[in-house]
Order: sequence, then structure tokens, then C-alpha cells
Amino acid sequence: MGHFRIRPATKDDARLLFGWRNEESTRMMSKNKDTVDWNDHVGWLDRRLALADPNLFIFELDEKPVATFRIDGEDVSYTVAPEQRNRGIAKLMLNEVRSRFGRLRAQVYADNVPSIKVAQTAGFEVVIIDV
Ligand SMILES: CC(C)(COP(=O)(O)OP(=O)(O)OC[C@H]1O[C@@H](n2cnc3c(N)ncnc32)[C@H](O)[C@@H]1OP(=O)(O)O)[C@@H](O)C(=O)NCCC(=O)NCCS
Repeated sequence: MGHFRIRPATKDDARLLFGWRNEESTRMMSKNKDTVDWNDHVGWLDRRLALADPNLFIFELDEKPVATFRIDGEDVSYTVAPEQRNRGIAKLMLNEVRSRFGRLRAQVYADNVPSIKVAQTAGFEVVIIDV
């Protein structure tokens, strides 16, 4: 599929993460379905990056950022860039996350079949949350 790498997110990723976060299909699969405004987003990112362990990462394929994941305690959450979906990127990324970070937990809505599939394939604990 190409060369991939995982790198920590930085302030320079603010615009990229903002776009992915506010895209409709991503919002519908998130606990918080509201559109985030730019200032709140930058505030969130600043606070996150100030943590000792931000645990917020960008997944790049051939030097191009195509997905993100973050780890909060035992939970992992992830988003693939909308135009890059259904190419096996989440599968590749989550397999790598599993081998680096161990068996995390993915909380997924029952109707998010692609997410349930990839999280199970990667060997995560999948917790189904009601729509
Ligand atoms: C869920 C998400 C991360 C999947 O990323 P992706 O790169 O498209 O996933 P992949 O291509 O690696 O794999 C998707 C799998 O779901 C399958 N799939 C896709 N759409 C499907 C559908 N409507 N019904 C059933 N299976 C479907 C694919 O065939 C593939 O399975 P396979 O490997 O057995 O062929 C991506 O859709 C996304 O970012 N969604 C919005 C945010 C989100 O839901 N995040 C997860 C919150 S828990």
C-alpha cells in the first residue's frame, strides 16, 4: 500500500484535524455530534499537546497525512480522512496501533460497521454503544 509512519500531532495539524473532526460522517459517529468552532478546537489541541503524554497521532501514507488516532487511558479513537476511506487505511493503522500500544478498547456505535470490523480485526476490545 505504500510507506506509512505514525508521528505525534503538532500545532501545525490544527487545520487538518479541524476539517476531519467537523466532517459530517465523522461527527455522526462521535459522542459529540456538534460542529466544533475553530477557537474551541485550537483550545482543545493546545491543552492536549500540553499534556505530558498527549497521545494524539497522525498516520501518514507516503508522507501524506491520511488518518489520526488518539488514546485516552484504555480507549482508542480514530478517524480516516473522508476521501481516503475504504482503502484499508484503518486496518493498516489499527494493526500497527495494536502492536505498539497493546490491546486497547474501541467504543463504537452499533451502526458503524466499518469501525467495528477494523477494530475487531486489529484485536481490540470492541464496546458497542447504543445509537
Ligand atoms: C471507521 C473508519 C475509521 C474506517 O476507516 P477505513 O480506512 O475506511 O477502513 P478500512 O478500509 O480499513 O476497512 C473498512 C472495512 O469495513 C468494510 N465496510 C465499509 N463500509 C461498509 C458497510 N457499509 N457495511 C459493511 N462493511 C463495510 C470494508 O469492506 C472493510 O472491511 P474489509 O477489510 O473486511 O474489506 C472510517 O470510516 C472513519 O474515519 N469513519 C468516521 C469516524 C469514525 O467512525 N471513527 C471510529 C469511531 S469508533
